[in-house]
Amino acid sequence: MTHDQVDIVLIAAGWSGAVGAVGLLIAWLGRRASLRWLPVGVALVAVGAVVAGVIGTSRAMFLSSHDYGVILWVCVVAGMVSIVFSGLVGAAVVHWSGRLREGARSFGESGEYAGKVGGPAEFAALNDQLHETSGRLAESRERERQLEDSRRELVSWVSHDLRTPLAGLRAMAEALEDGMVDDPARYHRQIQAEVDRTVRMVDDLFELSQIHAGLLVPVFETVALGDLVSESLAGAESVAAAKGVRLGGQVEDGVLLRADPAAFSRVIGNLLMNAIRHTPADGVVEIRGRSHSEWVELSVSDGCGGIPDDEIDRVFDVAFRGGGARTPESGSGAGLGLAIVRGIVEAHRGRVEVDNLADGCRFLVQMPLLA
Ligand SMILES: Nc1ncnc2c1ncn2[C@@H]1O[C@H](COP(=O)(O)OP(=O)(O)OP(=O)(O)O)[C@@H](O)[C@H]1O
Ligand SMILES: [Mg+2]
Repeated sequence: MTHDQVDIVLIAAGWSGAVGAVGLLIAWLGRRASLRWLPVGVALVAVGAVVAGVIGTSRAMFLSSHDYGVILWVCVVAGMVSIVFSGLVGAAVVHWSGRLREGARSFGESGEYAGKVGGPAEFAALNDQLHETSGRLAESRERERQLEDSRRELVSWVSHDLRTPLAGLRAMAEALEDGMVDDPARYHRQIQAEVDRTVRMVDDLFELSQIHAGLLVPVFETVALGDLVSESLAGAESVAAAKGVRLGGQVEDGVLLRADPAAFSRVIGNLLMNAIRHTPADGVVEIRGRSHSEWVELSVSDGCGGIPDDEIDRVFDVAFRGGGARTPESGSGAGLGLAIVRGIVEAHRGRVEVDNLADGCRFLVQMPLLA
């Protein structure tokens, strides 16, 4: 570089830099103004920096006044073109952001995002993100609606399920009182069974309300999973035998669990009873236990033939009962068993899920390993 060229660069840098600094100051002062002005400001600073550089260096470049005029005119024309161009860019950006704002506003009102904004990648990404959020909101609204329906159904079903056996009990008691009965022993047995069923349901409701109120605090003990399973199997044996269902499976030796034994036995019992109830005669119910990396796993699989797709997500909901039928005579319960299972498992910081297998389904409980 010659001496002159160094001078020209330094002078141009000084003048253009001054324009840049002024531009920066104005941009800072106007930082809350519309995005529309940003590209215009950038174009103005760019052109201004060139013009200032030319003016500042014209003496050092020994320009004739004619050449000087030509350069300035070229700068002015180029400047106007770039300002118009940047104005258009600014208007487009404002248009896209306006559509995003309009979409977000109606999202807030209707809860559903219906915007379709193109433009720069960032706007398109924001548009996609809003669609995704809208989808997730819709899912959780649907879930909430289903839960609300379940609660409402619970009240009407429970009153129905209680009223029917109570009416039966009253009829049987009156018949006994009137001495109109040939076989009083049968009536007594039936009364006993109805009372047991009703008491079980009221107990379930009470337990569920405790769980939902956060009052179920497990009393943790270290227990052998095998022992809990054996006890539950012994309790379910007679029901399974009466139905002709075989109970199988096994628990790995020495699997220890940190849990409230009574509550966890309830979990196993509810899962076993459901499995037996939904398995046809000659079918098999298998219960397996093992410890696995961070979890102790307990699975109960049955031969129910699979839970329908539209029901499988709801089986843990309070008062959900599959198949639609809701008569106490069908021998099914109030739809509380799995809600209690989930409540207890979650109070232990575990999780429970259900999958369909080839010809049945499998409930899997995962409990955190010993702390
Ligand atoms: N092992 C299973 N196989 C197939 N379907 C099942 C099984 N366990 C539960 N279900 C379905 O999930 C629904 C809810 O089960 P849940 O145990 O909560 O209620 P329930 O057994 O009907 O009544 P409750 O347990 O209160 O006596 C059942 O009605 C049934 O449709
Ligand atoms: Mg049940």
